[in-house]
This record gives sequence, C-alpha cells and structure tokens, in this order.
Amino acid sequence: MGKPVITVVGSIHVDYTVKLPRLPSIGETVIGLDFKKSPGGKGANQAVAAARLGAETYMVGRVGADEDGRILIDNLRRNGVHTDYVRIDPTSYTGIALIMVDAYGRNMIAVASGTDARVSKEDIDSAIDRIRESDMILTQLEIPIETTIYALEKAYEAGVTTILNPAPCRELPSDVYRKISILTPNRVELSMLANMPTASLSDVEKAARSILDLGVEAVVVTLGEEGALIVDRYSSTHVGAIKVEAVDTTGAGDAFNAALAVALAEGKSLKDAVFIANAAAALKITRMGAQEGLPRRNELEEFLSKVKSSDRV
Ligand code: RIB
Repeated sequence: MGKPVITVVGSIHVDYTVKLPRLPSIGETVIGLDFKKSPGGKGANQAVAAARLGAETYMVGRVGADEDGRILIDNLRRNGVHTDYVRIDPTSYTGIALIMVDAYGRNMIAVASGTDARVSKEDIDSAIDRIRESDMILTQLEIPIETTIYALEKAYEAGVTTILNPAPCRELPSDVYRKISILTPNRVELSMLANMPTASLSDVEKAARSILDLGVEAVVVTLGEEGALIVDRYSSTHVGAIKVEAVDTTGAGDAFNAALAVALAEGKSLKDAVFIANAAAALKITRMGAQEGLPRRNELEEFLSKVKSSDRV
C-alpha cells in the first residue's frame, strides 16, 4: 500500500510561547520561566503531524510576504509537507499566536490571524485537483468559515472523506454537517455546537447524537484525560486516554486529529484509529511546543509498544 494522501486546509502561523508558574488573572502580570518562538497554527501543526506520521501531506493556506512567512514555508518543507498550495500574500502579515502555558501544561491562546484570515475559496479552487485526489481532507476553524465550508463541500462532492476539527469553535450552518465525515470537537466545542450540556459522559453522548442527526457520519469527542468518545449511528464507544506527565498540552488536539486522519486513511477501524490518536496526543503533551513536540511515526510506534494496560485511564 502506498502512503495515504492527506490535504490540510487551514492556518499557518508563529507561536510566541511563555512558560509560566501559573496563568495570570485579568489585569495581573506574571513573570515567565521560559520563552520560545516556534512554528504553529492548527492547520500547519496538523499537516506537520500527518507528514511525520507517514502521510503524503499537502497544505492549503497563506503566509505573509515577510520573514516569518519564509521561515514557516521552509519549516513545512523540512517536515515533508508539500507547500505548492501555500500562497504568499503581501496584503497582510503572517499570523501569530500568543500562548501562555502553566506548570500543569494548561494553556491560554490569543491569535492575530493576519494572512490566515485571507485564505479564500480561490485558494481551494487552485488546489481542487489535489483535494479531489486526496484520501482525506483535514480542516479546522482558524481560517474564514466560508472557506472551510467551501473546502468541505468540494471534498464531499468528490467523495473524499472529510474531518473537521471545530477549533476554535464557531457556529456552523446546519446544512454543512452532512458534508462532514468525522467531526472532532472537544467537550466545550461540542457543548457550543449542540447548545447542550456536556458535563457527564451521557451528556456528551446525547449532545453528539444531536449533531449526528444533522448528517455527520461520526462524532469523536476528545475528552482530555478521559480519552475520547466515538458516537455514530449504531453505537457509542469510549476509548480511554494514556496516562502521562503533562508538560505542554498545546497542539495535543492537532496531534490527535492528524493521527486519526492517517490511521483512518491507512484503513484502520475508527476505534483503533482513535486509540492511536489518543497515544499521539499523549506523547505530544509530554513535550514543549505545539508543533515541535508532534511525534514522528517511529516515536509513536515505540510509545504504543510500551503502553501497558495500567497506563490506560
Ligand atoms: O492547536 C494549537 C495551535 O493553536 C497553536 O500552535 C497556536 O498557533 C494556535 O493556533
């Protein structure tokens, strides 16, 4: 079997991360322990993760005509991501994220989108042949929502499997759901999309079922330390997380989504793919940096071979 082909449509930006003993309250200043400037953006992170996990990966997005843009394109290439559909846009600056990470690995993120906010339907049209030939389209909500929806529509029309990671969460028109094969919200995003509580696992299942009724094939809810819940028409399956010491949770969702896409594109069952995705997310959170900490295929396989049943939550 050849490598699966995955096209990622989404954001590409620079992360400015400060490690802190604790997150500040409103109006408070907290002195940091460490600082790092590194590549980020949910789209680029998922593309790099997919490539590191063995997929032939294409990125559709934009960067500015500036130093950051050049560095980010070069970084994507060095990670094996094809950048033919990454446009250099002189009308804005390359997007940035300001990230604070506390001693428990928890984060707060603010994004200034820059050229991410200019990713357009034309960008999708220029990549249309690649999208049609892909095994999977992976996208998020860090670029204009009409562009994400257009990409989902085009992939759906071509019969390509689509994964939407609805982060950061925004309301979606109800007719877009039937164009999504797999929706991967976290608990908070699911609550916002379904407008229902998600405190307990049974609440999560009910909220996910309400989304299934809109036409999604499966909802995979990421639950952090509690793992993930797969809900489809026929069943609901809880897949436990793998216990690790958290250093930085930034990018855990990106590792999860990319690993899910690669495993499914390689023909794994949804349950097996979610187990692998949980492992990729667990390995990521043991490392600092959203994108730098994303695991490679051999690292993930080694980690999986060492996972004992006592490590599973
Ligand atoms: O998912 C993590 C990413 O979200 C970070 O890399 C940051 O850029 C934000 O977009």
